[in-house]
Amino acid sequence: MNILLIGNGGREHAFAWKMAQSPLCTQLYIASGNAGTAEVGSNVSLNVLDFEQVSEFIRQKDIDFVVVGPEQPLVEGIADYLKEVSKKDEKLKNLAILAPSAAGAKLEGSKDFAKAFMKRNGVQTAASETFTAATYQEGINKIEQFGYPIVLKADGLAAGKGVVIVESRSEAEQTLKAMLLEKQFGAASEKVVLEQFLKGIEVSFFVLTDGKDFVLLPEAKDYKRIGEGDTGLNTGGMGAVSPVPFVNEILKEKIMQKIIKPTLDGLKNEQIDFCGFIFFGLMIQEGEPYLLEYNTRMGDPETEVVLPRIESDLVELLYAAAQGKLKDKTLKISDKYATTVMLVSGGYPQEYAVGKPIKGLDKLATDFKTDLIPFQAGTKTDEKGDLVTAGGRVLALTAKGDSLEDALQKSLKAAQIVEFEGKYFRADIGRDLLK
Ligand code: AMP
Ligand code: GLY
Repeated sequence: MNILLIGNGGREHAFAWKMAQSPLCTQLYIASGNAGTAEVGSNVSLNVLDFEQVSEFIRQKDIDFVVVGPEQPLVEGIADYLKEVSKKDEKLKNLAILAPSAAGAKLEGSKDFAKAFMKRNGVQTAASETFTAATYQEGINKIEQFGYPIVLKADGLAAGKGVVIVESRSEAEQTLKAMLLEKQFGAASEKVVLEQFLKGIEVSFFVLTDGKDFVLLPEAKDYKRIGEGDTGLNTGGMGAVSPVPFVNEILKEKIMQKIIKPTLDGLKNEQIDFCGFIFFGLMIQEGEPYLLEYNTRMGDPETEVVLPRIESDLVELLYAAAQGKLKDKTLKISDKYATTVMLVSGGYPQEYAVGKPIKGLDKLATDFKTDLIPFQAGTKTDEKGDLVTAGGRVLALTAKGDSLEDALQKSLKAAQIVEFEGKYFRADIGRDLLK
């Protein structure tokens, strides 16, 4: 079949790499992709938020299956649009789409909606309350009740910057004012969720659902802060590992019963059309899982450690999900460890330069063979045909190993081999999990 994959990050390189291995995949197009996806498929330059343009491409290239990576097109309703046009257009009538509806993507697009959904459906989460400019004063009065630290979350998508954790009343007041009254994040902070701070260790769980049944994917832990020891600004993610050693059967069962099942039941009961991935961002506090957030897509860089551990045919699995046929599907998962270390441009997540030549990738293939997969994120091929940096997060160096230590060592060794001006990475990814 002909497949269109939407997105351009390391996550999409990992999806493209895995899908291209499937005998079911004839042509693979990636919109807009990067220099890595171009090695396993054909990049196409589309504005993925212009759904008419996307559907025109689908018609032209006889696309059978669309898979959507990032959140923005989901929240803006790409699944609803494509389903609507495929009903009316004979040529598109068999188009399969793996993407939740806009109503489903609201679990990621609105923190207020997500928290209300969790509470209605008995999903274990931190105490919280939502405020608007109209109820600002009430919010100020409630700060004290949550204690310190306190978490303030802008309701809408804020490119990973919308969550602020502060230690004192005055900072909390300032932040609430900036978000609600000064519209720090524009429309995204018209509502603000005040939330109880939880202290524990984070882990991410993922399911693929067709709206009725689901499969559980391998779990992962990601590292969001720019600095070693989890310090400094938040980023899209600086590295990840899978599996996560502290996740035992007891914890897994609690997560299933207290988080995943009530979520899937809630979607069914509320008749929210959901076909795609749900990413559960969890905090484990004293052995109990609490849901911090939903993402209605796979994580990046979590995908770069989850997919390399899946031994089953990914296209077959995703296509079954898109057709509502996940029942009885099982996954074959490798018991190897996968780790990824992200190489980023100096200055990221703030200002950084692009267009820097990237060297050393060819050496990875000789040194590590198939145990090292360099997933590309912010890369492109310049006019001279050379590989150069084109974003903040540049490469996710995924390694496989028989132990966490073994995989981490390979990722770190690779991180030293690859060179570009201003290269930065965290050398402590996964170290907290080593015994
Ligand atoms: P989010 O954008 O919801 O993933 O939040 C970003 C990060 O903020 C999370 O990965 C956590 O590290 C942190 N965070 C969010 N909510 C809480 C909370 N209630 N308690 C402690 N940390 C939190
Ligand atoms: N790595 C976190 C995310 O994809 O949102």
